Amino acid sequence: MTVEPNLVSREVLLMQLSAVLPDENRSLGIPPACYADAGLLALEQQAVFQHGWVGLGRADRWPDAGDYSAMDIGGVPLIVLRNRSGALKAFANSCRHRGSQLLNGDGNCKKIKCPFHWWTYDLDGRLKVYPRMETAVDFDPGEFGLVEFTVAVEHGFAFVSFEDHPPSIFEWLGDFDEFHQAWGIGHWKMARIREFEVQCNWKTFIEVFNEYYHLPMVHPDSINWLYPEPDAVDIVKGQFTTQFGATEGAAALMADTQQHALPLAPGLQGREAAGTRYTWIYPNLTFALSQDSMWIYQAFPLAQDRCHVIQTICFPADSVALDDFEQRAKYYYDRIDAALAEDLPFLEQQQLGLNSPFAKPGRFGTLEPSVGKFAYWYAQQMLRGLKPG
Ligand code: FES
Ligand SMILES: [Fe+2]
Repeated sequence: MTVEPNLVSREVLLMQLSAVLPDENRSLGIPPACYADAGLLALEQQAVFQHGWVGLGRADRWPDAGDYSAMDIGGVPLIVLRNRSGALKAFANSCRHRGSQLLNGDGNCKKIKCPFHWWTYDLDGRLKVYPRMETAVDFDPGEFGLVEFTVAVEHGFAFVSFEDHPPSIFEWLGDFDEFHQAWGIGHWKMARIREFEVQCNWKTFIEVFNEYYHLPMVHPDSINWLYPEPDAVDIVKGQFTTQFGATEGAAALMADTQQHALPLAPGLQGREAAGTRYTWIYPNLTFALSQDSMWIYQAFPLAQDRCHVIQTICFPADSVALDDFEQRAKYYYDRIDAALAEDLPFLEQQQLGLNSPFAKPGRFGTLEPSVGKFAYWYAQQMLRGLKPG
């Protein structure tokens, strides 16, 4: 596609993207323009979000028939909805009459009724009601159902693909199963969800979640003590990066609330029962999988310097069923929110620097291999998007 970056020339951008290497120890980082340049947003939306699969979040966010959310997935207004047979569906949030957005926010509906002229669709996207269309010659309502996209659910996570012929989700996730099956997260339950905006690029939001480097500087008195030196980053097949590290106690609790720890995930043993796995499913869903809880972030671009974040916290079903679950879960929410609150000012500060036309790509340190792995993946997507034709 034709791309006109504002902050750098196209040649410099291509050169910088090509300097992102698979070995993060030899590589330069993602070009700063990719975090700040409004002229690159359309390319990113197309090359990164409209290619392959994108995480929608936990499938149990929509437990009942008619439960829906209106989402913006990299510039595509989308309706995610559970139909009457229990399948999760994804439709373009655009009326087939004259294009109005159909649904906003979250809720439950029996049908999808356009607010403008009341064209109305069932939960499978079929057009059922279309007032005053009697003069339209050869009008076949069967041809005016909602545009539908492919949805897949794996390990309790829902994914959408905008491609006509998406790659297999199994191919996309590669050996994800091998690194995550011990926790049995397919059976975990969502306990709390929050959404908010942050004044930073969506990538920086997810990057900070996937590196141990900043812990002593940004979280010296809160969570730094939890994390000894992590294991090496795992070498994986698939569109994700993951790194495990032992923790001192339950990673999702502060030092002074460890006595409220919920039970370990059923069947979890060995090292995995005493640590946390940080995983980033490309492009923009990341989670920390601890011995008793999982906290997930999705960050979506609103502009190059602003993102919409969804935070979801999950626990094993057995824990959620405990009588005192809510009281104990609150300590987890407090710890997760406190760590996030400490990160936010640093992310906004980082964005201010990235906005400079003179910012240049950096290098990766020992404690940020997953950030480096993502950088290479991202650079390959952008280079593919920039190829002529
Ligand atoms: S735009 Fe939806 S009914 Fe007219
Ligand atoms: Fe942090």
